Amino acid sequence: MHVLVTAGPTREPIDPVRFISNRSSGKMGYAVAAAFAARGHEVVLVSGPVALAAPAGVSRVQVQTADEMLAAVSARLEWCGALVMAAAVADWRPRRAAAAKLKKAAMPVALELEAAPDILRALAERKGGRVFVGFAAETGDPLPEARRKLREKKLDLIVANDVSRAGSGFEADTNKVTLLPAGGAPIDLPLMSKRGVAERIAEWVLDRAAGASAAAAET
Ligand code: C5P
Repeated sequence: MHVLVTAGPTREPIDPVRFISNRSSGKMGYAVAAAFAARGHEVVLVSGPVALAAPAGVSRVQVQTADEMLAAVSARLEWCGALVMAAAVADWRPRRAAAAKLKKAAMPVALELEAAPDILRALAERKGGRVFVGFAAETGDPLPEARRKLREKKLDLIVANDVSRAGSGFEADTNKVTLLPAGGAPIDLPLMSKRGVAERIAEWVLDRAAGASAAAAET
């Protein structure tokens, strides 16, 4: 299978030396890329700036902004059979980025923001038979928000993650998640390594893709 995975944060420039970003180590997305590659699948990893080496057998495309990530994913959408969006894409960005460094003394009292592109939403209408997986990182019970995002972003699976729990979320090597399939029962996973979570996600995606191609062969 051809699998497109995104990971890490995006950076939205204020000026050449400052940016708005999201907390994200990239570990979860890199583990997903590694899990598919280890099973012999072809993986392209579109990554924001993180301090991780590309996993063995994975081809990596490095980006900075949400616009660049959207362009990199969009260009490879036809190629892929599955898209796993683990990236913590910035939701907002400065409306204007200054061309030169803003002087400390000229501090803006407010930053004017605009919405960054929502990559999953932008690509939803080109989804076709591809498997789309998203993540919902929330503080507190992630399931209500995750259900909404699953529906609104037309996903097949969303990985719901309470990032305020110990051992879960940012920078940790472990994660405690619930897999929420569209039209299926939630799968509550115990606290486990991010690689373990990645293996479960890869298994789910490969099962779903195999089921879809078997159904297509019958018709
Ligand atoms: O930011 P949010 O909680 O809506 O993210 C949920 C999912 O949507 C994640 O899979 C994330 O990668 C994706 N996303 C996106 N474009 C954005 C923001 C988030 O594709 N601008």
